[in-house]
Amino acid sequence: MFKWFDERLELKKFKEKFLSKTFPTHPTFLIGEIALFSFITLVVTGIFLGLLYEPSTKMVSLFGAMVPAAYASVVRIDLLPMGMLIRRIHHWSAMIMIAAILAHLMRVYFTSAYRNPREINWFVGLGLFGISLFAAFTGYLLPYSNFSVTATSIGYYIAKSVPWIGNWISTLLFAGDFPSNATVPRFFFLHVMFIPFLLVSLIVLHMVILVKQKHTEPAVNRTKKESQNGKRLIGIPIWPEQAIISIAFYFFLLFVIVLIATYIPLNPIESYGPPAAGTPVMRPDWYFLIVYGFLKLIPGDLSFSIFGGKITPETIGGVIFPTFLILVFALIPLLDRAKQPQHYISNPLHRPFMTALGITGGVFLTMLIVSGYIDVLKIAPKTMILYVVLATAAAGAVSYSLLRVYNRNKNGGKNV
Ligand code: HEM
Repeated sequence: MFKWFDERLELKKFKEKFLSKTFPTHPTFLIGEIALFSFITLVVTGIFLGLLYEPSTKMVSLFGAMVPAAYASVVRIDLLPMGMLIRRIHHWSAMIMIAAILAHLMRVYFTSAYRNPREINWFVGLGLFGISLFAAFTGYLLPYSNFSVTATSIGYYIAKSVPWIGNWISTLLFAGDFPSNATVPRFFFLHVMFIPFLLVSLIVLHMVILVKQKHTEPAVNRTKKESQNGKRLIGIPIWPEQAIISIAFYFFLLFVIVLIATYIPLNPIESYGPPAAGTPVMRPDWYFLIVYGFLKLIPGDLSFSIFGGKITPETIGGVIFPTFLILVFALIPLLDRAKQPQHYISNPLHRPFMTALGITGGVFLTMLIVSGYIDVLKIAPKTMILYVVLATAAAGAVSYSLLRVYNRNKNGGKNV
């Protein structure tokens, strides 16, 4: 059988060329795989949901009440055997994928794996991160519950607040005004066709670049190679060793996701109900709390004009601030002082400035997530701003000082 295929497709050559490539081993390299495997789970469960979901807001009868068809179809999915579990697995996989992308980004940042020659893969990765967030945002609307409409309208006002071209962007994304009957079919198309297509294309590009440039290696490999006078890359072949580890790891991850999804409910739309007047205060999932928290800290009456473009709190919190964050992340490989090709992962403890900068940024963003709860915590926005500044400054000062002392002691009193 294999021979038949081999004669036609030259499978042996393919195996020799690609599958026998070496993959270095380090537990943190599995974080990228968690993102990849969560995406696969999202696609598989998404196909199931897509077959039963109705992308329409026409009113239909559900247990005697008139509700939007999209909402009714999701309630019916929940009533199917395993239906609610699969919907929860889909949502939990999205949460885990975004958490894994962030952890993977931090791994690449703290070990300086973004340096020459991997800058392009850093930019591709940032694209993947942004598109994954957009996938989550478009998914929020689909069940068309009370929560969906509230969460999506925040995005609608942010899109509208882009100076000069806000109306054009919001019309393009939301297919007109929101809420309107046209938005659900538009988001359904974006969520199940356009965004997955972009994600798959960028993931393939990410992996092709990875194979071409080879993975960075743990620093201990350098010493091993010097003693063995060996060539670059110590590790295990992609086939069969790495493939077996990855498949086993995928089933373990799936087990964890199913366990969480079984016991922890997520987006229980039956208790939110269909869209209605007087929506209760609801917070978006944690990864959108950074923008949501930032918006809470901006005075509601802060509005002014520049060259005819209106700047509102939504523009500052939802457009300028995220654009600024993306720029900062994009500039990291360009501003890093080391320009020599780097093939071994750095020890974060030996990079006091960059490591302290990463910790400071992480604390700042975490404090913004906390700011999303100021109503619950009963903290005034001005007081919260003070806490954010103090915590961020303290994180920077303490982490930088400790790392400097650590390195000075290690180097026998000399500064690094
Ligand atoms: C859907 C999102 C993503 C997926 C599925 C993904 C997947 C992977 C995988 C499986 C690897 C090899 C194993 C590893 O190093 O962990 C990798 C490497 C890499 N990724 Fe990602 N990644 C994603 C997003 C990102 C992001 C957000 C960044 C940074 C902004 C990034 C930058 C890199 C770089 C620079 C490498 C090479 C690392 C090295 O050689 O040490 N990736 N990615």
